Amino acid sequence: MSKRIEIKDLDIYYGKFHAVKSVDMTIEPRSVTAFIGSSGCGKSTVLRSLNRMHEVIPGAYVDGQVLLDGVDLYAPNVDPVRVRRQVGMVFQRPNPFPTMSIKENILAGVRLNNARISRKDADELVEKSLRGANLWNEVKDRLDRPGSGLSGGQQQRLCIARAIAVEPDVLLMDEPCSALDPISTLAIEDLIKDLKEDYTVVIVTHNMQQAARVSDQTAFFNLKAHGQPGELIEMGPTEKIFHNPEQKATEDYITGRFG
Ligand SMILES: Nc1ncnc2c1ncn2[C@@H]1O[C@H](COP(=O)(O)OP(=O)(O)OP(=O)(O)O)[C@@H](O)[C@H]1O
Ligand SMILES: [Mg+2]
Repeated sequence: MSKRIEIKDLDIYYGKFHAVKSVDMTIEPRSVTAFIGSSGCGKSTVLRSLNRMHEVIPGAYVDGQVLLDGVDLYAPNVDPVRVRRQVGMVFQRPNPFPTMSIKENILAGVRLNNARISRKDADELVEKSLRGANLWNEVKDRLDRPGSGLSGGQQQRLCIARAIAVEPDVLLMDEPCSALDPISTLAIEDLIKDLKEDYTVVIVTHNMQQAARVSDQTAFFNLKAHGQPGELIEMGPTEKIFHNPEQKATEDYITGRFG
C-alpha cells in the first residue's frame, strides 16, 4: 500500500556536523519524486532519514518529524526495524546476498520478518516479486542459482524484487542506475514507472534526463555556501522545475551553471 510522506522541519546531523537544514516536504502516494543537487548537498542523507537507515551510522541523528500517513517514524514507541520493512531501500551498487540463490534472495526479508512460510506461498511470492521487478522471464529457469551470477542490471532488479517482496509502502532508491549500462538503466526506469502504481517512490539521481523521464515531482537540494548545511531549495512538478523554476540556483543547476 502506498503512503504519503510528510517531512516537517527536519535537521540531520552526523555528530556535531549539521548536514541538512530545515527540510519541509510532502510526497504524495503513487508518485515518483526525484532528489537532485550537487554532490554533498544531503540527498542521500535525507533519503536515509526516511527509513531511519542513518541510525546505523554512529552519532547520526535527526531533529524534526517524518510522517507516514500521519504517523511519525521517530515517535518513541516506533521500532526502526519495522520502519525499514515499511520503507524499503535499493542502493547504488546492486547488493544481492552473494551466496544465496535468486529465490532465497527474494525470501530473505520475509524470513527475517516471520519465521515460517509454506513452500507454496514462498514459490508464489518469489514469482510475484520477480514479475513485479520485471525479471521473472529472465530467471524463472534458474531460481536456485546464485544471485551473484546475474548481470548488473539483473542484480539490481533482483534487489528491487527483494525490496518489494516484503510489501513496503515506500521504495527509496539511491542512484539505482549509476552502476548500470544504458539498456539496463532504461529497464529500471520503465520499472520505476510501473512501481508507482503501487508504491510511493523516491529516487536520488545525478542524471537530469533520468529525473525528467521518471519523476512526477523534483526536489532540488543545494548548499547555500561552502561549510553550510544542505537545504531543500525548491520542490515542484518535474516539468516546472526543469522549465520554469522559481529559484535562480535551481535554474543554474538545471542548465549546468553552478555558483
Ligand atoms: N556517514 C557519514 N558520516 C559523516 N558525515 C557524512 C556521512 N555521510 C554523509 N556525510 C556528510 O553529509 C553531507 C551530505 O552527504 P550526502 O551523502 O547526503 O550527500 P549527497 O547529496 O548524497 O552527495 P552525492 O551526490 O555525492 O551522493 C556531506 O557533507 C557528507 O560529507
Ligand atoms: Mg548520495
